[in-house]
Amino acid sequence: MMDIETCLKKLGYVGVLDFATVDEDGAPQVRNISAIHYEGTTLYFLTARGKPFARQLKADGRVQILGYTKYKETIRLSGRAVELPEEEQIIWRDVIYAEQPYLENVYPGDTKNIDTIFMLKDYTIEYFCLSTRPITREYFTVGDAGTVRKGYYISENCIGCGTCQSVCPQNCIEEGSPFRIQPDHCLQCGNCFENCPVQAVQRY
Ligand SMILES: Cc1cc2nc3c(=O)[nH]c(=O)nc-3n(C[C@H](O)[C@H](O)[C@H](O)COP(=O)(O)O)c2cc1C
Ligand code: SF4
Ligand code: SF4
Repeated sequence: MMDIETCLKKLGYVGVLDFATVDEDGAPQVRNISAIHYEGTTLYFLTARGKPFARQLKADGRVQILGYTKYKETIRLSGRAVELPEEEQIIWRDVIYAEQPYLENVYPGDTKNIDTIFMLKDYTIEYFCLSTRPITREYFTVGDAGTVRKGYYISENCIGCGTCQSVCPQNCIEEGSPFRIQPDHCLQCGNCFENCPVQAVQRY
């Protein structure tokens, strides 16, 4: 069993994470970000006001953060980032510069006044690991981000034919009435969905 604190610790070890936003045309934009401070379950991260990244965060706020560990684990956070109010900017900027002194090289002296710090407090976590058999997938919610609904489930229309079981690459469907998908081991590949003769497999 994974947990929120361990996921965040692992992201800290990964260090440089991929941050995705959407731009004004709805196009995905992804980039490397390393200036991140973890304070409990809140992430503070630094960018510069003029970058597309900062502008997209201000305009839309939705951000997805992805890290891949050396143990072949994917950890993905999804939430809405908020730019810190003026009075909190310097506090967290100093914390981030103290933890990552190389930043002084990037923004020496007063040039760091172009920096701006965003906070991610409410988000969901998806933990996904392909190196176990069956694979492992877990979801967590931090703050009031709501819950994640993804993948497939089997409805009451199931007639118990067993076809889904026979085509599941991870053997993660249990017999029963109805049959049941184990979400913690499901690839969300959709093979059960495509092969059920009575469309009992539903997408969330
Ligand atoms: C290893 C690495 C770490 C980086 N960390 C940051 C960071 O913490 N903050 C930042 O604003 N840019 C950082 N950058 C630079 C951004 O990836 C780069 O400026 C990118 O162009 C910003 O995306 P944008 O053009 O969509 O704004 C980093 C780049 C690399 C290669
Ligand atoms: S294939 Fe469809 S009907 Fe058959 S056991 Fe699976 S869910 Fe039920
Ligand atoms: S989506 Fe794929 S992995 Fe998940 S239960 Fe269906 S067949 Fe199995």
